[in-house]
Amino acid sequence: MAGQPTSSKPQVIAPKGLGPFFWPYTLLLTVISLVIAGGILFANLDWLLPGWSNPVTDRAGDVDNLFKFMGVFGAWIFIYVAGYVVYFAVVFRRRADEPANSIGVQVHDSPNLEFWWTYVPIVLLIGLVVMSTYIWGKIFFPTEAPGLTMEVVGHQFDFEYRYPGVATSLYSPKDEMHLPVGVPVRVLLSSADVLHQFWVPEFRVKLATVPGLVQDMNFTPLRTGTFDIACSEYCGVAHSKMQGKVVVESQADFNKWLSALKGHSALQGTVSLAKGDPAAGKTVFAAKCAACHAVGPFDQKVVGPGLKGLTDDAAHPNLVTGKAPTPDNIAAILENGYAGPIGNMPNEQANGLSSTDVANLVAYLVSLK
Ligand code: CUA
Repeated sequence: MAGQPTSSKPQVIAPKGLGPFFWPYTLLLTVISLVIAGGILFANLDWLLPGWSNPVTDRAGDVDNLFKFMGVFGAWIFIYVAGYVVYFAVVFRRRADEPANSIGVQVHDSPNLEFWWTYVPIVLLIGLVVMSTYIWGKIFFPTEAPGLTMEVVGHQFDFEYRYPGVATSLYSPKDEMHLPVGVPVRVLLSSADVLHQFWVPEFRVKLATVPGLVQDMNFTPLRTGTFDIACSEYCGVAHSKMQGKVVVESQADFNKWLSALKGHSALQGTVSLAKGDPAAGKTVFAAKCAACHAVGPFDQKVVGPGLKGLTDDAAHPNLVTGKAPTPDNIAAILENGYAGPIGNMPNEQANGLSSTDVANLVAYLVSLK
């Protein structure tokens, strides 16, 4: 055949069956699949997925089981499909002595093969849907009464952790999240500004924080330790710095931490407001407030109203919140922000104000008679 001119009509090469090495090659693919499946099921993958051999939460065990299911069947499907693509491409390649326009045997309809490659994936996918929906349900709906309900609020660029009994408007425990070990926790997630994603990789839980929406996340930490928290959804320039730590500790240590926090928050609320320094407040005002507020009468608006006479303006006896102009009520606006008919003001976090700044600002504003 070599050197013959090619005919215009494609020449069908005679069938060769499955090729000379089909069954030994199939055995090889089976061995590779079994080795990978064995690795996924039995090897210690802590280097790849921290907490693999010793789940940190009950949800971590669930999610890792789902991963095992997907990993084993995904590996088998990939190895067989990719393996046979390579095998048939090599075995049924056009030989040098065959015409350039020769084609392989054209096969139409193979009910047996079609049955299996349709129904096996259907069964696997139904299994995947059932397993993942079940686990998803356990994350969203508590399976037992939560022993601790707390809130996580996304801010650019911090997660704020709110605990029952801690006055967050006075002090926001944003540095570390703490959880007692073995206690079912219900975390309510929301956002003060844009979309964030609260992710604790070793807990195997991740959920978006959405402004105006409160979402449930339920799990039980199973062992103590310190684990990473990351924001995993791009939320602005400092997104990559939006990281934190969660400390899982004994109930006794947790109680100690929480009562220290409560003490701290009470202290911050009373002492710092009373100790506000008007001169320091003036400096903060120039840096953080003067772009929107004049030191003039109420009607001298820049973006927001003028703030002179805030506490003794007969025409405006109350604050924009409708409350009396006491230091506490002024501080509340600075801490929580304001949204209403005359405009919007971001909260303490968004404005980058510490509680000392707030106390100093209140002292300064009260001094503007
Ligand atoms: Cu918050 Cu990314």
